[in-house]
Amino acid sequence: MIEPIGAALLGYLLGSIPFGLVLTRLAGYGDIRKIGSGNIGATNVLRTGNKPLAAATLLLDSGKGALAALLALVVAGPTAALWAGGGAMLGHSFPVWLGFKGGKGVATALGVLLAVAWPVGLIACLTWLTTAAVFRISSLSALIAIGTAPVWSWFLAGPSVALLALFIAVLVFIRHESNIRRLLKGEEPKIGAKKKDAA
Ligand code: G3P
Repeated sequence: MIEPIGAALLGYLLGSIPFGLVLTRLAGYGDIRKIGSGNIGATNVLRTGNKPLAAATLLLDSGKGALAALLALVVAGPTAALWAGGGAMLGHSFPVWLGFKGGKGVATALGVLLAVAWPVGLIACLTWLTTAAVFRISSLSALIAIGTAPVWSWFLAGPSVALLALFIAVLVFIRHESNIRRLLKGEEPKIGAKKKDAA
């Protein structure tokens, strides 16, 4: 019992590092939570107009998810990796340091999936890229890529990974509540477009 809890805690601590917030502050843009959608993720960092900063946020946010799962895998085995991945998602979405108001978890989810079942992670990345190429909407691409991951996980990686992927998908959908409302109204901005209101 101590191993799953330890792994989830390790994942939470790594996942709770708000790289988007830290990088945008260091780069002199102020608080990313007051820009665009108000989210701390790479899509919103891109709204500063700084592409390398957005790419760095994407890499670090996915890297922390992957690192959490891989560390747990090496130290305590595959089941611990799943708990660490789930913990990283909770840490990114509800970081204690930001009053439990964190990000939407897409990059971290991709990192976790790549680490625990790389074919599933790869399919999710390709799904995101393909959907983004067609529709140019980050949230829609994320919802489709992460929303279909439990199915791919079931067939390619088994029930345990599918359960984690389902947990991740539920979390990502909950965190995209405002995006889903805008998508339904046809008001979700395209990738890179500036957005005035924080929502
Ligand atoms: O990865 C987050 C993305 O799906 C939506 O971000 O800033 O448009 O709410 P944002």
